[in-house]
Amino acid sequence: MSEERDRVEAVRTAFVNEFASYADLSLNGQSLDAVEASLREVADLKVRHTGKKSAIAETMKLVGRVAPEERAEFGQLVQSVQKEIEASIDSAEAQLKEFISNAKIERERLDVTIPGRRTREGHLHLITILRQKIEDIFVSMGYAIEDDREIETDYYNFDALNIPEGHPARESQDTFYTTDGFALRSQTSTVQIRAMERRGVPIRIIAPGKVFRRDTPDMTHVPMFHQIEGLCVDKGITMAHLKGTINEWVKRMFGEDTITRMRPSYFPFTEPSAEFDYSCFKCHGSGQYEGDRCRPCKGSGWIELGGSGMVHPNVLKGVGVDPTVYSGFAFGFGLERMCALMYSLDDIRLMFDNDVRFLEQFR
Ligand code: DAH
Repeated sequence: MSEERDRVEAVRTAFVNEFASYADLSLNGQSLDAVEASLREVADLKVRHTGKKSAIAETMKLVGRVAPEERAEFGQLVQSVQKEIEASIDSAEAQLKEFISNAKIERERLDVTIPGRRTREGHLHLITILRQKIEDIFVSMGYAIEDDREIETDYYNFDALNIPEGHPARESQDTFYTTDGFALRSQTSTVQIRAMERRGVPIRIIAPGKVFRRDTPDMTHVPMFHQIEGLCVDKGITMAHLKGTINEWVKRMFGEDTITRMRPSYFPFTEPSAEFDYSCFKCHGSGQYEGDRCRPCKGSGWIELGGSGMVHPNVLKGVGVDPTVYSGFAFGFGLERMCALMYSLDDIRLMFDNDVRFLEQFR
């Protein structure tokens, strides 16, 4: 039966060769994908090398050619090779499956004792905080809050505010214009006009918002910043009301002992006009802080706040209000510089970089 025995041996060798790479599995460091691919290959080997149609099962048919007294032995040989093949495949399969199951458990492991990730709470931007604080004070004094457009026609940006043709503010080096002739408002004073057109008089409003100027950014300039405009028009309004209103506001803002002063100035849309200062919130007007020159007021004791004045008769006439019957005051100021002084910021651009490490300090 040596020929038949050789056939069985040949089948065994063919299997051993094909199986070589799975005979001595070392799975350490292999990826889950690679091991899953190996498992599929081994399953494929199993189909071909075990079962009724496999080469080894076929060798059983040779039993008829073997001498009857050797048949039992031949049968045992075939069976033992069959078992060996099955055992090899089963062992490789078991190893691969174990690896895959461990890798999946590892991948899906959930450690319920790990502390949760804290959600980071957002907060308002410091300009918004300051704006809301000022809004609250004016609302409590009976003012309404007006919001309006940032892109304006020349009429609202300039003409209605009594800013004549040829005024430097109208030049393209100071104001942004769109290609079709609109201007990005360079001051919130435009809202005075819009609000009076919409609401008529008497009126008491403040209008916070963005304004735009063609400035190159540096420590004290940015091309977009925020202003708050105020307007109060009624019968019998005088400059004393203006002074009293500003006074009340800064006292509520910076403390009871804060005082204000006005300096004569010029704005096209007010007459008379004044710039107003308030006594420094840090040194309370002394100009000295802890033996040194006070920083926010540069030792003067005063901080410039903004512009103001009695609404120009031309502005009232322009919106159909009779200046012999009604009068009013207006004021306007920027938020960024105020903010920078209050929080000792050297550079107003910090407020627009939106670096959370900076912003988080002001909640
Ligand atoms: N609009 C002025 C500016 O941007 C500030 C201002 C001055 C507003 C006088 C006013 C005012 O309402 O009456 O510099």
